[in-house]
Amino acid sequence: MTAVIAPPQSQRYARSVEASKRVRWDVEAAHKFLPDGLVLADAFTTLSPAEKRFVSQIQGRTYANIFGLVERFINAKVLELSHDHWFGDQNALEALVRFSDEELKHQALFRRIDAMVGDVLPDGYRFDVDANAVAHAVLGKSTWAVLALTLDIELFTQTHYLESIDHDAGVSELFKDVFLFHWKEESQHAILDELELVRHDGEVTAAQRDRAVDEFIELVAAVDGILQAQAKADAAYFVATCGRAVGEAESRAIEAAFLKSYRWQYIHSGAQQPRFGKVLSSLITDPQGQRIQAALATLQ
Ligand SMILES: [Fe+2]
Ligand SMILES: [Fe+2]
Repeated sequence: MTAVIAPPQSQRYARSVEASKRVRWDVEAAHKFLPDGLVLADAFTTLSPAEKRFVSQIQGRTYANIFGLVERFINAKVLELSHDHWFGDQNALEALVRFSDEELKHQALFRRIDAMVGDVLPDGYRFDVDANAVAHAVLGKSTWAVLALTLDIELFTQTHYLESIDHDAGVSELFKDVFLFHWKEESQHAILDELELVRHDGEVTAAQRDRAVDEFIELVAAVDGILQAQAKADAAYFVATCGRAVGEAESRAIEAAFLKSYRWQYIHSGAQQPRFGKVLSSLITDPQGQRIQAALATLQ
């Protein structure tokens, strides 16, 4: 007879699920899911405080979905990179295996949050992006470009955590926990992204790096395409379910505000991290840096 022993990671995951179940009621209470500093609540100039809170709840659900999406390709890239360390530095191998394991756990947690939020918000929410299709497209780019994008993403979880604790007392305890515990692990991932990016950078030619800079810009544009589609979907969902008539002009303003939030959350809050600029500028030339800055500047 074989006893079934739950591995420690599984127990940690089970505790995460327990924590998210415990605060189920909290989702129904009068709490925001994302802090004002991430929603950019001031950009929603026509909305009442209660409507802005609803916006933060929609964006909280999208937050779970966006992370479920990006963690799919991040995990695949990390597993691929771990091959380089199989018979080399065993600390590096263990660090990447743990990284991968944590991203699997995060995806499970975010699926759980999506379902939980779905239970309490009105019907009609859509997130129609296929994580595997996106992962295939992203992984078609060079490792340098994917690691640069991943570093951006994993660094911005720190900004998200700080916004959730420092500036906004109205955020639900569940989401505060999500920001805290996600950032704790993501801060380690960002260190590994940097180590792997610098290591990998040493193996590419100047021409390959130059091409990779363009591919990074293409990846950011692809992320922006997803954000544009989701801003449209989430604004339409808000208008359909907010309980009052919203005219054409106001609908467009709400959609623009959603896009502004999402670009801040998923692109600029990482790109503006000093660490991101420091790492990247240590690897690329000034003209390459200017190309990236020019591309980012179009996404305002
Ligand atoms: Fe994660
Ligand atoms: Fe991560």
